[in-house]
Amino acid sequence: MPEPRDHWSSRAGFVLAAAGSAVGLGNLWKFPYIAWENDGGAFVLVYLICVLVVGLPIMIAEILLGRASQVSAVGAFKKMIGKRWGFVGGLGVLTGFIMLGYYSVIAGWSIRNFVACMRWSIGGFPADTDLAAGFTAFVGDGPLQLGTTFLFMAATIFVVYRGIGRGIERLARWLMPALLAILAVLLVSAMSMEGAGRALNFLFRPNFSELQWTSVLEALGHSFFTLSLGMGAMVTYGSYMSRKESVVRSSLIVVVLDTGIALVASAIMFSVIFSTAGLAESLGKSTVGMLFITLPAQFYTWIPFGRVLAPLFYVLVGFAALTSTVSILEVVTSYFVDQRGVSRKKAALGAGGGVLAVGILCALSNGAVGALSNFTIFGESFGGKQGLLANLDHLASNWLLPVGGFLITLCAGWVLSREVSAKELADPEPPGWFHYGIWRFFIRYVAPIAVGLIIVFVLLGRDFS
Ligand code: TRP
Repeated sequence: MPEPRDHWSSRAGFVLAAAGSAVGLGNLWKFPYIAWENDGGAFVLVYLICVLVVGLPIMIAEILLGRASQVSAVGAFKKMIGKRWGFVGGLGVLTGFIMLGYYSVIAGWSIRNFVACMRWSIGGFPADTDLAAGFTAFVGDGPLQLGTTFLFMAATIFVVYRGIGRGIERLARWLMPALLAILAVLLVSAMSMEGAGRALNFLFRPNFSELQWTSVLEALGHSFFTLSLGMGAMVTYGSYMSRKESVVRSSLIVVVLDTGIALVASAIMFSVIFSTAGLAESLGKSTVGMLFITLPAQFYTWIPFGRVLAPLFYVLVGFAALTSTVSILEVVTSYFVDQRGVSRKKAALGAGGGVLAVGILCALSNGAVGALSNFTIFGESFGGKQGLLANLDHLASNWLLPVGGFLITLCAGWVLSREVSAKELADPEPPGWFHYGIWRFFIRYVAPIAVGLIIVFVLLGRDFS
């Protein structure tokens, strides 16, 4: 017998879960780094514009498709757009499979940093340790990598196994407020540091002479990743939403929360960086570095109450990642539940097990196993990425998400009739600032052209990952 469809148990349920999906490693790890690399101010402003003109309209479109169809990605496209369009959802399921494989490995690193910080907080921080070497040794340690990846996947599977209301919603209900609280404590601490002023200046004072055309495209690509758009995750979460809730209002809250948290995380990190003599100049290159290598040392040398805040901070990173990984696994799981009639429990275990297989390969691709670490998909031409993890990230961020997002704008803007989308968005009454005609213009013209540009530029060889 098919199980009755699970729903969010409260009004706040959807918003908390969707915000949980959006807020993740993209906000805490990737955004601060790319904002740094692109010289702050002007890049941040461009990113905000992208979120508003591309992110928000697509967010509304995805949630609309889910809520209207009450079925997860593949079924939603079949039902709302047409039988032939099921493949857009299918592409999302495939993307989820790949993304979760490597995301869970990086998420697992937060466990290691938490444990390391607990040790330093209790036993004292050894001033002469080489943190970079320690971290490189850790990611190259096969058994340890497998352990942290497995732990993280197990937690993810457990939550999805328990379902929407009792699993995902309950998790978000606890973790999102905790995350906001930890972030607030860190922000207060960071703002009391001497580099705070320079940090805010760097983030919010645009200097357009430094801005490059490629940065605009990088900002656009990141707005997809950070808002969990382009693979049907928001379609799936929207399918557990009741018609009493406004698609537009919920979309705006999720977008504002996600963007706000990315900015706060950056303000914290940049305050730390600008407060440490010589660090701003010496910092550079490694994406992983800022969050997992540079920051720990600062907690124990500069940051007020750092000994308490350091472990807490990596708990925050882990929490943020977990509410994101469950949303990716839910896309894969709900496909088997809605389209294949598999029970949720079996689907969660099966999908989770399959993803774990990809995760195991990724976990071993950072030094542990030579063949996986040196792996390239199309040789050097694929963004010059080395190792399976880096290649899969490249594949998902540069190809699968933008292509998926582009197809979604076509479906929602061009194939879905005006009558249907207008009726959906008018029920219940949207907030006063919303005008249907403007949304329709954005989803039909602005968003697909912008996303189309990313794809063209990627084809021309630009790397967004
Ligand atoms: N948005 C998450 C982050 O910023 C990652 C993520 C979760 C995601 N679910 C997704 C990205 C679905 C794309 C699609 O870390």
